[in-house]
Amino acid sequence: MSWRIALARPDLGEEEISAVSRVLRGPVLTSGPETEAFEREFAAYHGAEHGVAFANGTVALVALYAALGIGPGDEVVVPSLTFVSSATSVVFAGATPVFAEVDPETFNLDAADVARRMGPRVKAILAVHYGGQPADLAELAQIAQAAGVFLLEDAAEAHGARYRGRHVGTLGQAGMFSFTPTKNITTGEGGMILTGDHQLAERLRQLRNHGQSEPYVHSLLGCNWRITEMQAAIGRVQVTKLSGILARKLALAERLDRLIEGLPGVQTPTVRPDRDHVHMLYTVKLDSGPAMRDAVIDEMGRRGIETRVYFPPVHRQPIFVGTSPALPVTEDVAGRILSLPIHSRLTFDELEEVAEALAETIGAVCAGRT
Ligand SMILES: Cc1ncc(COP(=O)(O)O)c(C=O)c1O
Repeated sequence: MSWRIALARPDLGEEEISAVSRVLRGPVLTSGPETEAFEREFAAYHGAEHGVAFANGTVALVALYAALGIGPGDEVVVPSLTFVSSATSVVFAGATPVFAEVDPETFNLDAADVARRMGPRVKAILAVHYGGQPADLAELAQIAQAAGVFLLEDAAEAHGARYRGRHVGTLGQAGMFSFTPTKNITTGEGGMILTGDHQLAERLRQLRNHGQSEPYVHSLLGCNWRITEMQAAIGRVQVTKLSGILARKLALAERLDRLIEGLPGVQTPTVRPDRDHVHMLYTVKLDSGPAMRDAVIDEMGRRGIETRVYFPPVHRQPIFVGTSPALPVTEDVAGRILSLPIHSRLTFDELEEVAEALAETIGAVCAGRT
């Protein structure tokens, strides 16, 4: 479906087209200088020592668990209010996800609930930075340290975000980023692991290339999880645009806050003071539940404005039914959230239209007129 005002839109142009053309005119299409440069430049932007690029963020997580020796019999604590592969990647590694509650204001992991779910089999905590706002990393690091387990970051949605002045992806043992088209920067498909651990980075490189230690010697069980040179070339251009994209999105988010603040029944995003939110998503929470929220989505859609639920809880997905106790906070939040359009090419006029449509739609839905 083509929307008049889309939720997200990639910021791509002639520079990315030239970068891909340059690669296509040369002899190397995979595992070459563009990949190395993309890894170096993305890592440098975030202040990380090592970057290892992957075909996508999901397989980057699978490789990370394998590289850390997390597998059958082990557990990883993850939020349920996230994209499904924060949890399915754990399953692909042979381990089991343990779902924890989120903070009902920021939608990030609730550290107190994580502490309650730590058992002898837990080997890692996966801190997802929901929508681009860093999770409570200090509290989660304390829990991980006390239990002697890894703190890993799912920074798929949080390129360039900072927690207490430091970039996410560099605050645990490793951090994963995704480059799908709805993210703040994109390579079409793509992923990256950042880490300060040289040995971990080397293991990840080997796993991504069929576990090969030298030509046709496969000393680890790996897979083909490589990114192409064309994607990496796009990624290099995108890294140079990241600061500009984030500045634009911050200005849009602040304007949207002012436009929506005071609208009855709508809560604007809560941003904790010690961190930067990079607004991959702009998610509001409604006072009323799923029936009204879904009616708002339908009516906004009729006006050509795309809105979406990020995310239906993962523990309620058919593949996970019966594997997790109820998560009342997550389920309540998931029934009331709504993500609105926000991307670097959105104009302030379009933003005003979104806010006006939301106000009218909520008014109409409340009055039972849709
Ligand atoms: C929080 C989160 N984790 C993991 C992923 C998976 O990344 P990818 O789609 O690149 O496999 C995504 C994005 O899609 C995501 O938003």
